[in-house]
Amino acid sequence: MSIKLTLNAQSRELDVDPDMPLLWAIRDHLQLTGTKFGCGMSLCGACTVHLDGQPIRSCVTPVSAVAGKSITTIEGLSSAAAKAIQDAWVKLDVPQCGYCQSGQIMSASALLAGNPKPTDADIDAAMAGNICRCNTYVRIRAAIHEAAASLPA
Ligand code: FES
Ligand code: FES
Repeated sequence: MSIKLTLNAQSRELDVDPDMPLLWAIRDHLQLTGTKFGCGMSLCGACTVHLDGQPIRSCVTPVSAVAGKSITTIEGLSSAAAKAIQDAWVKLDVPQCGYCQSGQIMSASALLAGNPKPTDADIDAAMAGNICRCNTYVRIRAAIHEAAASLPA
């Protein structure tokens, strides 16, 4: 079955099983490997991408569910909020092993796009589904505040 979608602002067509998780379509068929597999059960957030700007778990999203829609992966992040997040991640040296970090950045950039000055509680709520085995949570929260401060009020 042919499925059309917009991926990182480009029209793409996939000839795959419609039940295939979006994660595998992105990684194996579209060769974008920045989105990671962690649990496959919507429990860790490593596979987070944006669907029309909102974070979703690509491991449990069938590719048929995104037909005609716009998907952004870590490779395609380009908004001002996303750039501020990425700059803050570098400045504060957030990653440790790095495995969870593309998912963290996807969630954080979606948060900042919708809420330019998030409180600690806002951050904790938005980031709760993104697990980090290396326990980088304190730096993640600091980096989101850093990114928020760098954006125009
Ligand atoms: S791999 Fe999708 S939430 Fe863990
Ligand atoms: S940096 Fe290692 S799992 Fe998060």
